[in-house]
Amino acid sequence: MTDIFVHPTSEVAVALEVNGNHVHTTVPAHRTLLDMLRDDLGLPGTKRCCAEGECGACSVLLDGELVNSCLVLGAEADGGVLLTIEGLSMDGVTDLQAEFLAAGAVQCGVCIPGQVMAAEQLLRTNPDASRDEIRDVMSGNLCRCASYQRIVEAIQAAAVGRRSDA
Ligand code: FES
Ligand code: FES
Repeated sequence: MTDIFVHPTSEVAVALEVNGNHVHTTVPAHRTLLDMLRDDLGLPGTKRCCAEGECGACSVLLDGELVNSCLVLGAEADGGVLLTIEGLSMDGVTDLQAEFLAAGAVQCGVCIPGQVMAAEQLLRTNPDASRDEIRDVMSGNLCRCASYQRIVEAIQAAAVGRRSDA
């Protein structure tokens, strides 16, 4: 007979970089990265919406990749480098955020941090993205206020601005 030990509330030690800060903490093994950010690390900018990987509201960059933080365990982020909306805008409103505001893309705002993180990743990896490419990449980020056209316009405007600054 095998002895089985179950520790449903066991804590896992994690060390990671969050928005340029070294964070050392423990997290319940089952806790998502989203909950860890919001509830443990005091970073509520990342939004909890569907909590099942469908809406993109919880988007963050982990090791340079866009992830839905509701689908990642906090323990899985151990050793990682994390960027959230708070880190992105720690020096103030970014050019991209300014374009979202100028385009009138921010309605209720629930989806916006995730939209901005996804758009930022897009601009970093494909600064010359076409309108269709933008729409395709951003299709993983839902907006119940249906600001889609304005969001695409904001991303295009930010891309133009960055090209002219380059
Ligand atoms: S809250 Fe994570 S995808 Fe919707
Ligand atoms: S601005 Fe309201 S959900 Fe997108």
